[in-house]
Amino acid sequence: MNNIMILICIKNMDLCSDKSNLFKYNPERFAFLAEWYDPVAALLRRYQLFFYPRDGSVEMYDVKNQRVFLRRTKTEDVHTEDLFVGNKVHVFSRQLNLIDYGDQFTANKLGSKKERTLALIKPDSVTKIGDVLEKIYRSNLIVTKGKMVKLSGSQAADFYAEHQSKAFFNNLVQSLTSGPVVALELMGDEAVSVWRRVLGPTDAAQAHKEAPQCVRAQYGADAIHNVGHGSDSFVAAARELEFFFPSTIGHGPPNTAVLTDCTCCIIKPHAISEGLAGKIIDSISSAGFEVSALQMFNVERANAEEFFEVYKGVVPEYSDMVTELCSGPCLVLEIHGANAPQAFREFCGPADPEIARHLRPSTLRALHGKDKVKNAVHCTDLPEDGALEVGSYTLLGPSLLCPLLFGSEH
Ligand code: CMP
Repeated sequence: MNNIMILICIKNMDLCSDKSNLFKYNPERFAFLAEWYDPVAALLRRYQLFFYPRDGSVEMYDVKNQRVFLRRTKTEDVHTEDLFVGNKVHVFSRQLNLIDYGDQFTANKLGSKKERTLALIKPDSVTKIGDVLEKIYRSNLIVTKGKMVKLSGSQAADFYAEHQSKAFFNNLVQSLTSGPVVALELMGDEAVSVWRRVLGPTDAAQAHKEAPQCVRAQYGADAIHNVGHGSDSFVAAARELEFFFPSTIGHGPPNTAVLTDCTCCIIKPHAISEGLAGKIIDSISSAGFEVSALQMFNVERANAEEFFEVYKGVVPEYSDMVTELCSGPCLVLEIHGANAPQAFREFCGPADPEIARHLRPSTLRALHGKDKVKNAVHCTDLPEDGALEVGSYTLLGPSLLCPLLFGSEH
């Protein structure tokens, strides 16, 4: 630990000992070690990031060059609840990966209860994914990875290997392979137990009696068709997340993109971080559109520039659109249907949410957009580009239609 870090520790520890209850006051500052990928230099740069909760200001210190990189400046972009190792925050359009706590105080205060868990939405409930996501966000969990996949019999048997000797095993495998599932990595305070509480008791009949508000009571049918699965421990979560989101990118089960008769919808990063993904997907499903594939991505700036290239020099917001698309994870949906490109575009509404609210108040952008750049969703303009845009995002590997368009998989 260098001198600066030690100073921060001491300063914050003083604050701890001054007050008996940490939650009664607003601590002076939190410290993190953060990384930013500099696309121009193709380098990962390291910073100490300080956040001052009292006035919402941030300060950055360049670790390698040992100098202040950003003087203490107020920002609307960073919130205490976003600050934990493994998460990404945006400071003046730079996406910073929080890779470690900068001092013991910050680790104790913000890091002790953070967990990751697997949420698996089973085939019978995939059409309810919007509503389930909404419940997840309302429980203060965030989605950090997501993918719709279709499991084979042997993959499902592997996933449920611990139940191999049970009488219900074959039915369980059969139900899990009866259609696509949606795998999600959830993160938050005590995520393992919180997600299991949101799900409720295993058997939907029991859930009805004991926890009528839980998702299994609301959407489940019995013990097998019980909406979803949740890891039962920290260790199981790590194993099960590795199954769907292996550390070696491209090795997990592929997404379900069909790439025909389809259009592409991207739920933009601002909408994801505002917790609107559930509401948006719910609106899409309620309007009768079929979500045939889904995957969360982090888009690099160069890829976002290429993806939006047709708008370059055409719309004045081009550069801001690029910045928004790579400012955090986005959720890419494949919307399937014979007339999907045109019908879905109409459903999204005018690109400017202000205009949309006047002219087409029930469209997605009227309901969830803020301005021309943060307009909730991108959708494919031309019908013939639907499969191309979905493919750009969802086909990982050598058969990419446009390999450059990919950021890192989520
Ligand atoms: P899940 O959370 O996916 O984890 C294991 C699954 O086994 C569980 O949900 C149920 O779908 C299933 N299961 C557990 N107990 C029973 C049971 N007694 N009868 C039928 N299915 C069960």
